[in-house]
Amino acid sequence: MRKKFVAGNWKMHGNLAHNQELLEAVLKNTANMRQSEIAVCVPFPYLSAVQDLLRNTHVKWGAQTVSEHDKGAYTGEVSTEMLSDFGCKYVIVGHSERRVIYGESSQTVALKYLAAQRAGLIPILCIGETLEQREAQITEQVVGEQLNAIVETAGAESLMKSVVAYEPVWAIGTGKTATPQQAQEVHEFIRKSIADYNKKIASEITIIYGGSVKANNADELFAMKDIDGGLIGGASLIAEDFVAICEAAQN
Ligand code: 13P
Repeated sequence: MRKKFVAGNWKMHGNLAHNQELLEAVLKNTANMRQSEIAVCVPFPYLSAVQDLLRNTHVKWGAQTVSEHDKGAYTGEVSTEMLSDFGCKYVIVGHSERRVIYGESSQTVALKYLAAQRAGLIPILCIGETLEQREAQITEQVVGEQLNAIVETAGAESLMKSVVAYEPVWAIGTGKTATPQQAQEVHEFIRKSIADYNKKIASEITIIYGGSVKANNADELFAMKDIDGGLIGGASLIAEDFVAICEAAQN
């Protein structure tokens, strides 16, 4: 049985006071929810404060991207070792906002994924198609290629220590959620593609869905056979909504 996983991706939101209020409410109201893992991926400057709030609790934390380099003259970048210094367990790699806005290629994403694993962090690898690609009916090809880039660089075995997040780009921040069936179809495809490399990993790997997951649709999404939880953007900034989504992962 795979354990469900709910991770908040705060993106570039928050401030010290709001973060504290949010996390205190999340801690208090999810204290009994031990059936699933809960995490928040926060902006770099808040890692230290978040570590202080979440240390020795049931809620884990991580970052939203990381450098593919271990150290060096890379002004503005943050290394995996720095994330480990602040107790991160997870790091998101390949979010579509990084791929699209900052031009990260699948090859760069693979190097970030590899760097994260070298440092003992668990990469949350985001893959997903744009609306144009879905309409052209090449979703599986796109998602397959994004996954393949990882396998070619890091090897199929590396998937054992990662989480995959299927995030259709057209569903992110748009209020347009993939239907549970649409999401399930792609999750099943991802799991089958991984099974072609390694059946055991395919049955054990956590594959979460992201894209306008809200308190009122999380239940249906998480009930699907191959959906193991969610990567939550907007709704992770509101304690009540995030808690309700964590609750949906208990079933
Ligand atoms: P929203 O939940 O705001 O659509 O964002 C999803 C996302 O991009 C999570 O990484």
